Amino acid sequence: MNSNPTIWRATVLTLFPDMFPGPLGVSLAGKALSSGVWALDARDIRDSATDRHRSVDDTPAGGGPGMVLRADVLAAAIDAAESAADAPKHRPRLLMSPRGRPLTQSGVIELAVGPGPLIVCGRFEGIDQRVIEARGLEEVSVGDYVLSGGEIAAMALIDACVRLLPGVMGKLASGVEESFSGGLLEYPQYTRPQTFEGRPIPEVLTSGDHARVAAWRQAEAEALTRQRRPDLWAPRESRKGCRMPPKSTTDG
Ligand code: ADE
Repeated sequence: MNSNPTIWRATVLTLFPDMFPGPLGVSLAGKALSSGVWALDARDIRDSATDRHRSVDDTPAGGGPGMVLRADVLAAAIDAAESAADAPKHRPRLLMSPRGRPLTQSGVIELAVGPGPLIVCGRFEGIDQRVIEARGLEEVSVGDYVLSGGEIAAMALIDACVRLLPGVMGKLASGVEESFSGGLLEYPQYTRPQTFEGRPIPEVLTSGDHARVAAWRQAEAEALTRQRRPDLWAPRESRKGCRMPPKSTTDG
């Protein structure tokens, strides 16, 4: 475990700490983790249970199916994580949940430039609402579908942040980020062979004309975004409509 208090750190509270680092331990994120660019603490919520059976959940007040994670146990787990010597101060406290605010690239950038979040992974039918309020947990969703717990969602969030940290992706990061943060989907890519199953690489990409290549890529990115993600495209169009008229030369 890396105890350097100055590096970007994700602290994950989970009932399944063995799921971590999982995919975050390989490839770019994994190399950066072992070389100390970032740190990961997966903490077992069950360690904060107080009874002899180490129980963390109970039946829902008002009845209904499933079990609810107890407020007192989770609050104790959060407080213990935050009082650890290497824990960053003033970090976002997130709860992975399908009812949360959808995670976006601008949200990821905001998290990546900060000290790194504390992330609670839900399981069971839910979490006692009082701990969400009492500890100011910000609910975050990775999509409109339901996973069996917050762990995989937390991994997606951490992966998206870590690849933006200085030294993780080298030169690639800035270019790729601009393309998505600019609100467009990425243009299609090609490499050798020149012809694959009768399909050639688009001529412009082998022309050596950098301006034409850039214009083609921009047009492809725009067309893809318009077709596949009208929700991303529409705000761009309406922003265009709202542009201030050019300043007249006779204006003061
Ligand atoms: N936990 C279960 N489903 C989830 C989702 N879609 N996003 C975040 N956390 C979740």
